[in-house]
Amino acid sequence: MPITITVNSPDQTRLVGQELAVQLRPGDLVMLSGGLGAGKTTFTQGIGIGLQVKGRVSSPTFIVARVHPSLVGGADLIHADAYRIKDLSDLETLDLDSTLDEAITVVEWGEGKTEQLSADRLEIEIHREHGGVATNINGVVDLAEMDDGERTITIRPLGERWEGTEWGSVFSAFEEKEEK
Ligand SMILES: Nc1ncnc2c1ncn2[C@@H]1O[C@H](COP(=O)(O)OP(=O)(O)OP(=O)(O)O)[C@@H](O)[C@H]1O
Ligand SMILES: [Mg+2]
Repeated sequence: MPITITVNSPDQTRLVGQELAVQLRPGDLVMLSGGLGAGKTTFTQGIGIGLQVKGRVSSPTFIVARVHPSLVGGADLIHADAYRIKDLSDLETLDLDSTLDEAITVVEWGEGKTEQLSADRLEIEIHREHGGVATNINGVVDLAEMDDGERTITIRPLGERWEGTEWGSVFSAFEEKEEK
């Protein structure tokens, strides 16, 4: 059963990622999909905060993957962008400082490319509810202006790994925190 959460801001997306991080273990694979600018990197920032890893997660534009080492003796975060890779072999040939079975791997744009990494995986789709029409003023296209911040985040757990996982805290991630 997929889990769907509606959020209204980048901070809420980060909080869902942060709360999800509590459930993640070494070797886990998270695949993020959604359109350009949906919030995949923003969500990964939350995972990074939750895992307490070094460095701020950002878009790996010119590199395929970046390792964020754990600051607390836990699992490292491997943040990969599969947008420019053809298949898994490209990711495996990377000389990363952390191995896929010891780290937590989060892949943006991995569909059709990195499923073979693990039968047990989380497929997460971030969907922008209202696409909006970009304004074009004097040749400057403003996408941000049209963004109402609403997203739906759908988490699809695949494989035995996730049997018995408590998703309640992920659901209520931002509601609880906002009350405080
Ligand atoms: N609820 C939200 N969750 C995440 N991002 C949001 C939300 N509302 C607005 N935004 C904005 O949308 C943008 C998302 O950018 P981000 O880099 O996270 O997307 P992405 O899916 O990783 O894009 P890309 O396809 O380029 O990798 C940011 O500018 C962010 O501020
Ligand atoms: Mg991104």
